[in-house]
Amino acid sequence: MANIVRRATCQFFNVGSRNFSVSAPRHAKVSVLGAAGGIGQPLSLLLKQSTLISELALYDVANTVGVACDLSHIESAAQVKGYVGDSQLEECLQGSKIVVMPAGVPRKPGMTRDDLFNINAGIAMSLAEAASKACPDAMLCIISNPVNSTVPIAAEVYKKNGVFDPRKLFGVTTLDIVRANTFISELKGTPVTQTQCPVIGGHAGVTILPLLSQVEPSCEFTDEERAALTVRIQNAGTEVVDAKAGGRKLVGQVPRPVWTH
Ligand SMILES: NC(=O)c1ccc[n+]([C@@H]2O[C@H](COP(=O)([O-])OP(=O)(O)OC[C@H]3O[C@@H](n4cnc5c(N)ncnc54)[C@H](O)[C@@H]3O)[C@@H](O)[C@H]2O)c1
Repeated sequence: MANIVRRATCQFFNVGSRNFSVSAPRHAKVSVLGAAGGIGQPLSLLLKQSTLISELALYDVANTVGVACDLSHIESAAQVKGYVGDSQLEECLQGSKIVVMPAGVPRKPGMTRDDLFNINAGIAMSLAEAASKACPDAMLCIISNPVNSTVPIAAEVYKKNGVFDPRKLFGVTTLDIVRANTFISELKGTPVTQTQCPVIGGHAGVTILPLLSQVEPSCEFTDEERAALTVRIQNAGTEVVDAKAGGRKLVGQVPRPVWTH
């Protein structure tokens, strides 16, 4: 599990303070499952700007047609198309080289990522099932939480369908690295764009393991600094969830926000 998550951060996406880069072929079709959501929309915007992508297929249970229309106006090569609902999922996935999955509900204050399991496990399972059939050779990158569980769920689905390749399944945990780099830079005054801290393990609480002894440029930490920094990196997601104070509602409680002009 830890290795799968690490590969995602090492080889695949680095969307944040670093540039987006992939080891995938150029002119690839990329599908985003959950593309109308809080993660899916800005992620799709970033992907639309990649010169490595020729086709961007945006899937969600609602609202992707508008999101796709909006992104299609950006002057970059990728052709964008929106797909809505179960009946269009297979068409969305067909021919994809990379499938990115930010589908599912996010946390609200007081929730852990594990609390999302009951809803998101089923979503991850059904989307993995579809991807394993429509584009079994594609790289599948799972953002949906709890990543520590949704990745193994997808692995089991792919194994059941006889198409599992551990080199092509990723849990996306880049955020933990981005946060570690930022917090270390703030504390130590190192240049923020050049500070690099490896983070291994999973993507929830104590399974997030920043390797502070390996930071570049090399930094000295007191025991107190190391303890406080580790806890802050591990709980940074909760910091954000609490700061947003439940401002974003669960799917179904309110109309989904759409991309505004
Ligand atoms: N791995 C990470 O670093 C990371 C970071 C942020 C968020 N997340 C996780 O990503 C997920 C999405 O977060 P968000 O803030 O975008 O939530 P959101 O509610 O804003 O968006 C989720 C989207 O998923 C869609 N969706 C729900 N069921 C679906 C299905 N069966 N098929 C396709 N789409 C479906 C919803 O319609 C919605 O548009 C959450 O589980 C969140 O915890 C992970």
